[in-house]
Amino acid sequence: ETVAQEIKGKILITQEQILKRAEELGKQITEDYKGEELVLVGTLRGAVPWMADIMKQIDLDLEIDFVSASSYGSGTVSSGEVKIKKDIELEIKGKHVLIIEDIIDTGNTLRALKDYFFLKKPKSVKICTLLDKPSRRQAEVYGDYIGFSVEDLFVIGYGLDYDQKYRNLPYISYLEE
Ligand code: IMP
Ligand code: MG
Repeated sequence: ETVAQEIKGKILITQEQILKRAEELGKQITEDYKGEELVLVGTLRGAVPWMADIMKQIDLDLEIDFVSASSYGSGTVSSGEVKIKKDIELEIKGKHVLIIEDIIDTGNTLRALKDYFFLKKPKSVKICTLLDKPSRRQAEVYGDYIGFSVEDLFVIGYGLDYDQKYRNLPYISYLEE
């Protein structure tokens, strides 16, 4: 049995479920930001597939940008230290920012990102995350729009990686210890 076949036997969340959830959350976001200037900021690289899904379900004149921040080395353990490796290019002053994230784990990355974006004087900063792992939270941060809550598993697929692999899986799976 190949690694891919083994992983495929352990699907936690299917693409179909994700697309349905994107539609639901997209509708809610459309209502919540009606008449407002909205900038979606995707976190590279994990949020790319989820960003692509959710943005198409938001019926507003919005702008998109990307940021790259890292708190992780190459393994599965958070270092707790966050670095901005690629900043956004759009002006967000006076606009609403919605960060599109793959997963909130310890919350350290998003806490730091939110604090950093607030320095640019946006009207608001909220979070739309595909996955939430609330049992692992260290920083005070929460998702305003949450796709799915997951248990304390190391999840992969749909943008989420283990050592940069498995991001292309069209479903969410997990790795055994
Ligand atoms: P946090 O700062 O601990 O909340 O983690 C932020 C980043 O760690 C996420 O954006 C992911 O890129 C990565 N991460 C956290 N948990 C997982 C996981 O279970 N699988 C893959 N990546 C993860
Ligand atoms: Mg990652």
